[in-house]
Formats: sequence, structure tokens, C-alpha cells
Amino acid sequence: MIELLMAQHGQIRDLFDEVEQAPPDKVEAAFGRLTRMLSVHETAEEEIVHPYARRKLDNGQGVVADRLHEENRAKRLLLDLHNDGVDHPRFWERLAELRTAVQAHARGEERYEFTRLRAHTSTAERRAMGAAVRAAESLAPVRPHPGTESATKNLLLGTPLAVMDRARELIRKALGKV
Ligand SMILES: [Fe+2]
Ligand SMILES: [Fe+2]
Repeated sequence: MIELLMAQHGQIRDLFDEVEQAPPDKVEAAFGRLTRMLSVHETAEEEIVHPYARRKLDNGQGVVADRLHEENRAKRLLLDLHNDGVDHPRFWERLAELRTAVQAHARGEERYEFTRLRAHTSTAERRAMGAAVRAAESLAPVRPHPGTESATKNLLLGTPLAVMDRARELIRKALGKV
């Protein structure tokens, strides 16, 4: 599970690069992929990692409260960016702000949560949580499906709140919570 989430941190970094380097007509599609991955990833952490960290780590409450604070800020930025669209005059400035926030948040997770969780969980627990992360990951293909990606479709599929809801459903099902 921890390796999967760390790999997603890497994929998120690459997706930011893709948006930043995309030719103008591809920015929207690339931003759609970034949006889906971020929505899935943060939902997986909220549903799987943080509840566990809160119970198991010393000062887990405090560590998780800090992460949720960062996550909520990133989520707000993401929703604003999505709602205003890639043609908004402040898109690039706010994308850079989101990137900085997301990367600082990922470093905080890796340092204060992931490493410490490894010591407090069994292999079987981590495997079960990994399966739940993977179930949600299907909503965020990193590579576009050739021929199926149009800007409109991307927008419809990529509404962050819809992706988060669907990810939450898949995760809870995988964890046997529904
Ligand atoms: Fe997170
Ligand atoms: Fe994360």
C-alpha cells in the first residue's frame, strides 16, 4: 500500500509536468488526468491511511489533522481550477500554487505517516489496504486511452467531486465496509 501511494506521488508529479508542458490544445485533457489522479489519491488516503494513522501512531490525531488541513487546501484549489477551466487568466498561477501545496503535502505524508505506518502495520493489513487503493486507481488511468479522449468527455468524467465519491465507494467496497 505504501509503495502504491508513493508511486502515485511520483505519477502526480509527472502529471503536473505534462500539464505544464502540453501544447495549448492538450492542456485540458492533461489537466483532466491530473484532476482524476489527485481526486483518487487523496480520497484513498482519507479513507485508508489517515484513519489508520490516527489510531496507530503516537500523536496520530495531530499528524492527521495537519495532513487533512493541507489536503483540504489542495482540494479547494483543485476545485477552483476545475470550475474556472484551463482558459481562466489565473490558471497557470493557481496551478503552480496547487503544485507547491500538493508536493509539500506529499512530503509531509511520506515523512510523518508512511514511514511510521510501516512499522505499525502487518504485511497482511498493508496488502488489504493496497487492494483498496488499487480498486480506486482504476478511475484514474495515467495514460489516455487512444481515441476515447475528447475534452468534453474528459470534463464530464473528471468532475473532481464525482471522482472522489466514486473512489470512496470502490474503496469502502474493497475494504468490506459496505
Ligand atoms: Fe494526501
Ligand atoms: Fe498523498
